[in-house]
Amino acid sequence: MALRQVRIMGDPVLEKVCRPVKEMTSRTRELIEDMLDTMYDAEGVGLAAPQVGVLRRIVVIDVGEGPIVMVNPEILETSGSQTGGEGCLSLPGQAGNVTRPNYVKVRALDQNMEEYELEGTELLARAICHECDHLEGIMYVSKVEGDLYDTDPDLMDEEEDIQE
Ligand code: NI
Repeated sequence: MALRQVRIMGDPVLEKVCRPVKEMTSRTRELIEDMLDTMYDAEGVGLAAPQVGVLRRIVVIDVGEGPIVMVNPEILETSGSQTGGEGCLSLPGQAGNVTRPNYVKVRALDQNMEEYELEGTELLARAICHECDHLEGIMYVSKVEGDLYDTDPDLMDEEEDIQE
């Protein structure tokens, strides 16, 4: 298990647009494994490559249903809306209300560069949108309605304040 350092908001790497992955290399496989390890260690539900300082279009997500690896994800469809608390591993201890689609359909490559499509609702839809935003250099704070608020990890309701 290898953990990578999660970059904190203010680091310019979080504001850059990521480049597509053209081929799967041993280095990229290792990055994906490390991203999963880092996400689980931090008890997050998602992590994007720029959050560990790599400007490539890779995200990992686990909303409690097993790991999802998305290479070069592309959102094909969205519908509905949901408003709820959202956090980010790049801004620990804080959260804010963000409105996201309630349904998302995404096309991506897996860790073997095989294309698949995935539909998600509720938390998964939120996580997909949040992580895909990271690949465009967008932090959720630019979409927060109202003020950010402090989260107390001991009192944190995982359903309310997800950290991505
Ligand atoms: Ni995030």
